[in-house]
Amino acid sequence: MLGLVRITDVSPRDGLQNESGIIPTADKAELVRLVAASGVDEVEVTSFVSPRWVPQLGDAADLLAACAAAKPPGVCYSVLVPNDKGMDGAVAVNAVHAGLIDKISLFTAASETFSRKNTNATIDETLDRFRPVLKRAAAGGLAVRLYVSCAIACPFEGNIAPDRVADVVRRLLSLAAHEDYARDANGGRTFANVEIDLGDTIGAGTEASTRRLLEAVQSLDAWAAFSWCDRPLVLHLHDTFGRAAECVRAALQMGVRSFDGSVAGLGGCPYASTPGHRAPGNIATETLVRAVIDAGFTTRVDPARLAAAAAFARDAVARSRAAQADRDRARA
Ligand code: HMG
Ligand code: MG
Repeated sequence: MLGLVRITDVSPRDGLQNESGIIPTADKAELVRLVAASGVDEVEVTSFVSPRWVPQLGDAADLLAACAAAKPPGVCYSVLVPNDKGMDGAVAVNAVHAGLIDKISLFTAASETFSRKNTNATIDETLDRFRPVLKRAAAGGLAVRLYVSCAIACPFEGNIAPDRVADVVRRLLSLAAHEDYARDANGGRTFANVEIDLGDTIGAGTEASTRRLLEAVQSLDAWAAFSWCDRPLVLHLHDTFGRAAECVRAALQMGVRSFDGSVAGLGGCPYASTPGHRAPGNIATETLVRAVIDAGFTTRVDPARLAAAAAFARDAVARSRAAQADRDRARA
């Protein structure tokens, strides 16, 4: 075996944010419980984003409260946070349920157009929003994930050059290394961990473009300040054209040891769907784990338990879509 690969399941967040209906909080909590019990290293539980922008995840605090009792030891729970207001939500949860949220995930993009559409902010402005959040994450000893969306292509701008992605990654690393919060008064490290997560938001990646992207990002000098971090580079693939597994294989060959997936392939980029055909979503965590094992690596995931989580996710989403279709018919 070639080594252990870290697996994050993002289905409760990236999967369910794309459903047109709102999944009941109890179903989300059961999904989190089943996914966490499958042996994944991390579950991205929800987002503290504006409920006006993403009503599907407007129950973030309630969901986390419902997940508090069943969190297995050793599994990392993370939440998306776009700004200081989102951080208020995460901090409030941890004030009641100490240590429930282990990591916050901030997100920007390599495409200006996508950044504006997703966060109502330029790339520069998203980075400015991160500063106070990073300070609070450091003070709370949280780990930090920094997402870069459109790392291969943007639904509005087309292909994104690897150098543009690398430039955003360089700026994020320099922000995370800033002395205002990366070191405590004694010179010790403050964040539990720091990682960059490259998002192929619309699933445009191929083996060749994945390699070009990783070459540009891995060659940055800025990584030197993060040698203490565990698996600081993560790949977040969507499987729009069924090529995500080949991108995983290429990334493994290039040293990436941490990936995101979503049980049952939930997710699906709305920009890649057509009225008659809903685009496939994130790479299914089941497919990801198989690709990792076939390439000679190991994970902590139990495939049978993962399959049970995926089956529950399919059912929950099917129930929600059927209820949504009934509502649509009643309105028509
Ligand atoms: P904005 O409208 O510019 O925000 O949105 P604002 O600061 O002007 O505030 C407007 C109102 O929103 C105010 O309320 C704020 O309090 C409230 P009002 O005074 O009008 O009543 N507000 C909030 N409420 C709750 N939580 C918050 C929050 N912030 C402000 N955190 C904002 C800016 C960033 C909030 C908005 O654009 C937003 O929420 N965007 C999130 C979009 C999103 O979640 N996208 C999906 C996640 S990213 C992704 O999927 C990609 C990824 O998977 C990787 C990949 O695949 O590439 C990670
Ligand atoms: Mg995504």
